[in-house]
Amino acid sequence: MDYPWADRFTFVSTIDSTNSRLKQLALQGAPHGTVLAADHQSGGRGRQGRSFLSPAGQGIYLSMLLRPECKPVDLMHLTCATAVAMCDAVEQSTGVRPQIKWTNDLVIGREKIAGILTELGLKADGTVDFAIIGIGINCCQQQEQFPEELRGKAASLEMVLGHSVSRARIAAAMMTALQKMDAKLLTQRDAILIQYRGDCMTLGQEISVVRGDSVRHGKALDIDAEGGLIVEYSDGSTQTVSSGEVSVRGMYGYV
Ligand code: BTN
Repeated sequence: MDYPWADRFTFVSTIDSTNSRLKQLALQGAPHGTVLAADHQSGGRGRQGRSFLSPAGQGIYLSMLLRPECKPVDLMHLTCATAVAMCDAVEQSTGVRPQIKWTNDLVIGREKIAGILTELGLKADGTVDFAIIGIGINCCQQQEQFPEELRGKAASLEMVLGHSVSRARIAAAMMTALQKMDAKLLTQRDAILIQYRGDCMTLGQEISVVRGDSVRHGKALDIDAEGGLIVEYSDGSTQTVSSGEVSVRGMYGYV
């Protein structure tokens, strides 16, 4: 394997959050392609201020630092690009391709097996200083090891595949897929989003969009050029959702 950033990889047994620590390293000048991975996170972070359970010996908790020379608006599709790259990595290393629940969850069947948290740092002139891509994959847990409230919503690769998996092999595939993604991130946005649409199980589904106290029901129609979800509501109006929470009927307890 021709992996150019092998000397920029660090593995630690425990850390609060690989994203948080990599952000500190980025501010100290860590180079493009730096990867920090951990066996355990005591404060793994998810989107919207949630935590991401990161028990020792059971998952992959990995963050990569990129320093693309661009404006933040040029990275609107970064989470989508990462999700496609992670589908490639899981497929390459296990033989099974997950699907994507818009925007940032990898699912197999109806259960979440991985989540993605991307964070940007900006320079004083408003251009991108760094992007941190954090991925957590549930690999080896058994059902009883998930807290009650996550059962039926989250699963591990071993649970859904029915056999053991190699975390080292999956992590290596993730890093290779991220490096390939980086090579085309700014030049092949349309092609990446075509792949994303093909992997996104949310499209065509009945969904609800929760914003504060408001809940609207509709159907997921398409992904726009920046990775936003185009929704048609039951009153016939359409809207592109770029933030907020989307629930897919039949998944994660939404019936
Ligand atoms: C989500 O599901 O909302 C996103 C979860 C992202 C978790 C990963 S694990 C590695 C990296 N470090 C963190 O603290 N979070 C991300």
